[in-house]
Formats: sequence, C-alpha cells, structure tokens
Amino acid sequence: MARTDTVAGFDSDRWMERQGKSSTSASTLRGRAIKSFIETNYELAVLPKTAALALQMANDPSSDIGKIAGLVRTDPAVAGRVIALSQSPAFSAGGGSKNPSIERAIVRMGVEPLKAIIIQVALNARIMKIREFEKELVQLQRHSIFAAAAAQGIARNLGLNAELSFIMGLLHDVGRSIGFEAFSRATPAVRNELVLEARGLGPLLDMVHEEIGAFAAGRWGLSEVAQESVRHHHEVPPRLESLQYPMLVKCADILAHQLGDPEGSTQIDVRAVDTPYRLGLQPHAIEALIVAVPKEAEGLLALLR
Ligand SMILES: [Fe+2]
Ligand SMILES: [Fe+2]
Repeated sequence: MARTDTVAGFDSDRWMERQGKSSTSASTLRGRAIKSFIETNYELAVLPKTAALALQMANDPSSDIGKIAGLVRTDPAVAGRVIALSQSPAFSAGGGSKNPSIERAIVRMGVEPLKAIIIQVALNARIMKIREFEKELVQLQRHSIFAAAAAQGIARNLGLNAELSFIMGLLHDVGRSIGFEAFSRATPAVRNELVLEARGLGPLLDMVHEEIGAFAAGRWGLSEVAQESVRHHHEVPPRLESLQYPMLVKCADILAHQLGDPEGSTQIDVRAVDTPYRLGLQPHAIEALIVAVPKEAEGLLALLR
C-alpha cells in the first residue's frame, strides 16, 4: 500500500516508481533505507516560527512591506543580511544607500530574494551547528552563493527574472543540507543501513537531493517554476526546456562548480557542454560570466560572513 506522509503530503512509493524502481526493488533494504531517509528529511523542511511567518507574509501579495519589515526586524540575523545584501552591487545598481532601512532594502531587492534570505538564515542557524559535516556545509554554502550569482547573471543576459533566478540558484541544492541534517539526527541503525547500502552519504544525496529540495521549496511557498527548477537541475526533461529556468539553474550549477569549487575537484567546463548554448547564451556572454560571477559571488560571501 502506498504510504502517504500526512505531514508532508509526499507519496514516497510514487517517488520510487518515478525513479524507475519497481515495487519489488522498493522493498529491498536499500529502497526502504532511501524511503525512510526521504521521509525523515521531509519532517525537517519545517522552518522556525518567525521565519515561517515572515515567509508566509512574503508569499502573500496583499501583505504590506511595512508589516514584513517589522517581522524581519525581530530577527537580527535576517535583518542584517537583508540590509547587507540590498547594499551589495548585486542589488544596488545605483550604489548603496547612506541611510538604509529594512523597508527600503526590501523594496530595493524585491520579495523573492527576501524569501531566500529568510530560508537560508533559518536553515543555517540549525545546520551550521552540525560539526560532523562542517566542511561539507561550508563548501555547500559557497557553491550555493556561486550558483545564485551565476543564475542571476545568466538571467540578466537573457532578459529573464534575475531575482527569481537568484533564489533558485541559492536554493537548488538545499536538499543536500536537509539531508546532512537528517543524517546527523538519524539513529545508529538507520545510519548503518544507509551507509552500508548506499556506500556513504554523498552518493545517497546525489540520488535524492533534487526531490527533497523541490519538496521543501513547495512547502516554503516558492513558485511552481522554482520547484521544477530545483527538482530537475541536473537533468532537464524535454517537456521543461521551454520553461528556460530549469535549464538556467542547470547552467548556473555547472558554472558554480567550475568557478567556485576548490582546485582539483571534478569540474566540467561550461564552454564544453551544450547547456549554455541551448539556453541561448552567446560565447562572449559565457566568457563575461566566467569573469563576473566569481567577483560577484566572493562579494556576496564576504557580506554574509
Ligand atoms: Fe545538485
Ligand atoms: Fe549544485
């Protein structure tokens, strides 16, 4: 019988089928381990109360900026980052304001990046406490910022929504952070089962992070296109190519690995794959992104430290 997670509304058996696994293989040890891992992760897509409330307000088109700003102000970590980011070159084409306020910062940067900041701060506060995966999580944060800068740059070049692209880049691998947290909380029995069967957490997260991330994005009220872009950022199905954003996030991910990963790690040169060309990026635009993205991303990282 298909088990539907009542909290999350997620049908894990259907997910296993979608992955091309029959119900027989889904009942193998590995299938069960992955299913239980996903179900545990979904419980973790819950944000702290203030963050959830702020996100809910940001998702409601009738909310007024003053009220959202009031709530944001109650969380110093979110408030600080909103001001810092709105002053950064990424969001202040005409230079930073001498007298920044939360209201002006939200108007300046838009509601979409605000959602991404709320989510990032709320998750980081929890996730960065996990000493066990500190190195992986720091690298993941760096990769996410590079992907956000890359996605924004690509969107500007193609005349697409740069703010939406920024948040999709920032959150495309959020399923991995949720996965690290889930694993750090798992019982020794579950941990053993997962690592033995999936030969470690990395390969397991390679398999499931897109689905977990897309689910979380839906739960946080991100748009359908953002959910689909997170869900398919490694392999864009032909039916979604015309949407452009899933392909854009895929391209941003490749660029982020190429430009932001430590030297010596496996990288693909974005110029050697067809993704940017299928998106409609010209070779000179790709070269310009290769120069601009690291500068923009390092600037954002310095602001977020
Ligand atoms: Fe990914
Ligand atoms: Fe990625």
